[in-house]
Amino acid sequence: MKVLILGSGGREHAIAWKLSQSSDRPTIHTAPGNPGTLIDGRNLPLPDLSPATFLAAAEIVQADLTVVGPEAPLVAGVVDLFQSHRRAIIGPTAAAARIEGSKVFCKSFLDRHNIPTARAGKYASRQEAALHLSFLGFPIVLKTDGLAAGKGVIIAANLNEATAALDSLPEAPLLLEEFLTGEEVSFIVYVQNGKAIPLEATQDHKTIFDGDTGPNTGGMGAYCDGRILTAQQTSVIMDTIIEPTVSGMSTDGAPYSGFLYAGLMMTSDGPKVLEYNARLGDPETQALLHRMDSDLLATLLDGATPVWKPAPSVCVVLAAHGYPGAIRTGDVITGLDHASCQVFHAGTVLRDGAVATSGGRVLGVTHSGPGLQQAIDNAYREVAKINFAGMQKRMDIGAKGLKRW
Ligand code: AMP
Ligand code: GLY
Repeated sequence: MKVLILGSGGREHAIAWKLSQSSDRPTIHTAPGNPGTLIDGRNLPLPDLSPATFLAAAEIVQADLTVVGPEAPLVAGVVDLFQSHRRAIIGPTAAAARIEGSKVFCKSFLDRHNIPTARAGKYASRQEAALHLSFLGFPIVLKTDGLAAGKGVIIAANLNEATAALDSLPEAPLLLEEFLTGEEVSFIVYVQNGKAIPLEATQDHKTIFDGDTGPNTGGMGAYCDGRILTAQQTSVIMDTIIEPTVSGMSTDGAPYSGFLYAGLMMTSDGPKVLEYNARLGDPETQALLHRMDSDLLATLLDGATPVWKPAPSVCVVLAAHGYPGAIRTGDVITGLDHASCQVFHAGTVLRDGAVATSGGRVLGVTHSGPGLQQAIDNAYREVAKINFAGMQKRMDIGAKGLKRW
């Protein structure tokens, strides 16, 4: 069997790594891939990342199954195009991917189906939002419509900050949203034929600096531990959030399939949706698949219930100089050969036989241990072996779990 993975980040390397261990021994191609996906399969360089180019790639490698990593091709309709050419692909159609592609669409959908989420006002323009600002409470969350790679959300503590934030946002529809407090959890399900199969909960670390401070990033690390949610909390999430979402999308004429990622706040009033993503998370996937004991391909193809290793896993992201702002690339990475754990590649490139940085998030050093503390210690022991000029990392990945148990 031939599997094609679309994308080039750490999430895609984790998918390639996990699928390469499948009992079916599939041939793995990643398009365009990175130096890490080259360890676990083959890469297919692409001239561009359009749906038509991805379809051509699937035809070249005669893919029996294609798995989409990032959101952009989903929103651009890659699944629709593959389906119209009768090529098997995992992911939502463009209509269903709007749940991530448009925050205004997502909020209207959640409200229409009574799915718990932060209360929000929807505004057609920044001017319209500005008129309402002084009537709303603080802190307040400003969210621009459209894909923003994690940068479309600003939390403003007061009217001055909110006014300045409004000025900095691009001209687009936006939401002014109630600020929720609680534990943030990434809850991902795999939806197939209208049935949602929950994966284990993970926790991301979104800001650049320790202690959840500094600007937001795509995610500086994640951990997966069976204790993040109780069985009772998982069943509340499935009953009040996931099932109504999957059935609501069908009722609305845009049935959902593929991975669905709910960013949740566990508030004192119960779990509420902060956002939906139409894909697996990054770096959540690196920690998640490291902990998955069962065959990922069996879940993808037959909806087999996944089985998890008891040992918690931790993924520490090593980021480039300047991230999440203007990044520097081309810094040579040392120590990769000395790391004795799974290191997922993201923003890396092979240059004159050496591995160098080529993106914001460069590597995801992933390890496990019999307990969360040991998993953290094991991951950071390996992190210490790797270096490149300007390397940034958080030293507290997983610490929020330690605080709770
Ligand atoms: P999003 O891109 O929607 O995931 O938002 C990025 C981050 O902003 C989230 O991971 C949260 O940490 C924070 N956030 C978003 N919406 C809210 C909210 N309503 N209340 C509190 N924090 C929020
Ligand atoms: N780590 C957050 C995301 O994948 O959206």
